[in-house]
Amino acid sequence: MHQEKRFGVEGIAVSIPKHFIDLGTLAEATGVDPAKYYRGLGGRRMAVVTPIEDPVTMAVEATRTLIDRYDVDPSGIGMLIVGSESGVDAAKPIASYVHGMLGLAPHCRTFDTQHACYGATAALQMARDWTSRQVGEGKKAIVVATDIARYEVGSAGEPTQGAGAVALLVGNRPDVLVIENHDDAVYTADVMDFWRPHYSSTAMVDGHYSLECYLKALENTYLTHRAASGLGWDDYRHLLFHVPFPKMAFKAFRQLHEIESKERNGDFGPLEEQFDRMTAPALWANIEVGNVYSASLYLSFAGLLEKSGHDLEGARLGFFSYGSGCCAEFFSGTVGTDASAWQGRIGVAEALAGRIELDYDQYLELRKETEAISRDGSYRERPASNGEHVWFCGVQGHQRIYARAM
Ligand code: CAA
Repeated sequence: MHQEKRFGVEGIAVSIPKHFIDLGTLAEATGVDPAKYYRGLGGRRMAVVTPIEDPVTMAVEATRTLIDRYDVDPSGIGMLIVGSESGVDAAKPIASYVHGMLGLAPHCRTFDTQHACYGATAALQMARDWTSRQVGEGKKAIVVATDIARYEVGSAGEPTQGAGAVALLVGNRPDVLVIENHDDAVYTADVMDFWRPHYSSTAMVDGHYSLECYLKALENTYLTHRAASGLGWDDYRHLLFHVPFPKMAFKAFRQLHEIESKERNGDFGPLEEQFDRMTAPALWANIEVGNVYSASLYLSFAGLLEKSGHDLEGARLGFFSYGSGCCAEFFSGTVGTDASAWQGRIGVAEALAGRIELDYDQYLELRKETEAISRDGSYRERPASNGEHVWFCGVQGHQRIYARAM
């Protein structure tokens, strides 16, 4: 009997900066009611990078963890794609640095994909298509989402910052997630809702308009996917969304709930109860880390897998990815059946353990130093105590210099 081949995610690993600021600290220092950030935006903490961390170091850390924990043979990696909004160079991709620092094979194709927060989803779909045309056991691909969400100090976007990376191993043994094969449910519109000019290290955003664009893209892609796949609301155990701030996932869920409710003439389960069951369990890591742009949907996925464990085997999940500008996609997948093989390896709680809390002045100082080391040629030697970690030293002779323990 012919059995359809399955492709998707074989492994998943994360990297999260070790420092954070509590949103209450930010609110109090700037004269805002903390309830606006805790309840109004649904966040709690945001990861903050130090000058030695950047999108490259986070991508390297996440990928190295992936390779170590899933016993990946680096010579079998034929494609490495990094999805990021926060590229460090206008020409050289982050993927080249990751490839070099991890010693991947020369026959590996490397490049970055950029479309605000959608870049990693474009990469994942491309990697899945590519692995599906490999013959025999085939080669595997690695997709990394890495980003620093940074807005101007004092702006409305400031409480929705964060940083981190998620690495995904993609291939034909999708123990973590089988990506289902349906016609694409994508939506593109040329909108100016969020952007970052080359000369700026902070993003610019038309905040409330960006919410409208997100929700319009969601409705469009959800309905397209429903029509193309024949899958409906009741087929999903969980619905995962791009999470610029946790309350946005609630707004997204509410939008879909309204569509379904209207079609069933209101004869539909209560909104809050369904949200708590279907989406809230996937938000705990985002609440701790903040927005990680292209990585945010996949951090949500990693958090869900880690907390819900074996219960998810075979469960169908719906994913909504949104990148401002904009391009969005809704896709579905079923969780693999070998949960015992991957459950202990994701390490989200481990990455969050022992983080260091910053006060407001320390947060501002780190922002200033981080900006300086990326731009003005200041340079830091790697300290002997840096252990295994990769270290961004600064820019010398117009080149970014990285160090790592041998
Ligand atoms: N107590 C409790 N709640 C309060 C409150 C208080 N004291 N004061 C305000 N609130 C609530 C408000 O009622 C509101 O809730 P609802 O949306 O449920 O009504 C919430 O807190 C936010 O209040 P405002 O809308 O007044 O906040 P704001 O105008 O200062 O900015 C924002 C909110 C537009 C999201 C802003 O943070 C922003 O620009 N963020 C960046 C852009 C963004 O994340 N866009 C998301 C879609 S685009 C995308 O997803 C791509 C991406 O990653 C950027």
